[in-house]
Amino acid sequence: MTNLSPNGLQILQARYLRRTEVTETPDELFQRVAKHLITVEDEDHEFWFDRFYGVMRHLEFLPNSPTLMNAGLPKGQLSACFVLPVEDNLEAIFTTLKNAALIHNSGGGTGYNFSKLRPKDDIITSSEGSSAGAIAFMKIYDTATEYVKQAGKRRGANMGILNVTHSDIEAFVTSKSDRESLQNFNISVGITNDFMNAVKNNLEWQLVNPRTKKVSKTIRAKMLWDLIVDEALKTGEPGLIFLDTINQDNRLPKQGKINCTNPCGEVPLFDFESCNLGSINLTKMVVHDGKKNEIDWNKLDKTISIAIRFLDNVISSNHYLLPNIKHITLANRKIGLGVMGWAELLIMLSIPYASEKAVDLAEVLMKFIQEKSYAASGNLAQIRGCFPSWKESRYAPNTLLRNATCNSIAPTGSISVIADASYSIEPLYALAYKRTEILNDKTQIEINSIFVEKMKSLGFWTEEIQNEVIANGSIQNIKHIPKNIKKLFETSLEIPWKYHLLHQRAFQKYTDNAVSKTINLASNTTANEVSEIYKTAWKYGLKGITIYRNGSRANQILQPCGVN
Ligand code: CDP
Repeated sequence: MTNLSPNGLQILQARYLRRTEVTETPDELFQRVAKHLITVEDEDHEFWFDRFYGVMRHLEFLPNSPTLMNAGLPKGQLSACFVLPVEDNLEAIFTTLKNAALIHNSGGGTGYNFSKLRPKDDIITSSEGSSAGAIAFMKIYDTATEYVKQAGKRRGANMGILNVTHSDIEAFVTSKSDRESLQNFNISVGITNDFMNAVKNNLEWQLVNPRTKKVSKTIRAKMLWDLIVDEALKTGEPGLIFLDTINQDNRLPKQGKINCTNPCGEVPLFDFESCNLGSINLTKMVVHDGKKNEIDWNKLDKTISIAIRFLDNVISSNHYLLPNIKHITLANRKIGLGVMGWAELLIMLSIPYASEKAVDLAEVLMKFIQEKSYAASGNLAQIRGCFPSWKESRYAPNTLLRNATCNSIAPTGSISVIADASYSIEPLYALAYKRTEILNDKTQIEINSIFVEKMKSLGFWTEEIQNEVIANGSIQNIKHIPKNIKKLFETSLEIPWKYHLLHQRAFQKYTDNAVSKTINLASNTTANEVSEIYKTAWKYGLKGITIYRNGSRANQILQPCGVN
């Protein structure tokens, strides 16, 4: 039987287990998913059932939530990530809204770039009126999301992007300033290299009406930059999406430019494209060699190869809500295999997150995952054929692949709770949490179990320390704990931002899609620091960047003990 943590079991019960006359068990859930995926295998059904079911029941690999929720159901929609076009006419705007509602209803999230929309107060020829503008339409999308919810089971997720050249960009940047608007949107400014250079050289910057292509206003680039930075400091948004970096790495440039990502930023996609994600639980990829813990590279290799086949099968066995989505998704077959439990893996290996050693290991690990993912996708290409648009991709003519992209680092917001692993590549936010239970609203204190185990093995676990951790979520102020032990257990806000970015860079280097990461900052962070972080992110070649200053938003789901 799957060995689930109380939280893992609770989240499955609340949102994932199928309810018919009797509610399925977690094992039956994983069997349902595996059974569905083997329907697209030509042979060896039992063999693949065992592999797919095995990696899920041992919590070594989990696919994104919609696959867990919907596989095996009639018309089961399995993808988490979509991008939809927003064209500059009323019919198209509302057609996209309808399509977004269908996607949300099936558990998926949507990204849009609103830059084709004419600006607020621009002319509408047919009605002789004036346009409500991009932000007004975003608000309509936001309200629809609020009421549709995702499969009735989780908050709707949207990404809204506006390019840095758009006439409405200043209003967009401050569109969440009131902390009430656009609560179902993440917003990001679509940044170009030209803009970054204009900021650097303190040049003028032209805002353009996309309908007329005429300059509507000229401002100083630095002024717009400061507005972005101040807003991000205040509310955590807007984030930045680096469009030129994304397009330099576009594996299918003949299909056009990529203008958008999914809601959390880890998958740049074309219009109508969807992507399936899955993440390997790194805490399960450890072996004890008699003296110390090491990464079990052999097991990791095997898990990657099963996971890639798993995700490729998701594409083939998916129910597509729209012909356009089906067409481009089946042509490119993008998947995104990532990781969770990175911070806990480092603790198990006795490597502090804020260290060169950790950053080096991140590169080695992700390079391995990428190489093995490509190898697995290449093997599938031999058996099943390359992805249909392969000939027009950068891989042709030499590299056979079944999938136009293989890797993404997703936030793993729900699946890491199921797997009882730390989120994605994030450091631990605190060593203890107050968590409000989903089912009964009770608040529970939880201490990270891997931290406790490590402290015990080091001979440092006492009741006094336990009390301190419950009170403060940290061990940094306990006098008699040696420095090197304290260093190993630094939490998100105690880790300098430079290391957050270095980890993101290390993973991005070997990730063909993108890395979703939040740079968590202490409440006393300054605008200058935010500016420095955003500039460094661009210089590091990251595809996007998100910050969060502690306390800058009201609803934090997890209340870290002692952090304020
Ligand atoms: O852990 P889980 O599979 O539920 O998702 P995640 O890794 O936190 O997020 C991956 C992607 O799922 C996001 O980038 C969104 O595209 C989508 N998502 C969503 O649509 N709605 C949510 N409430 C959370 C995630």
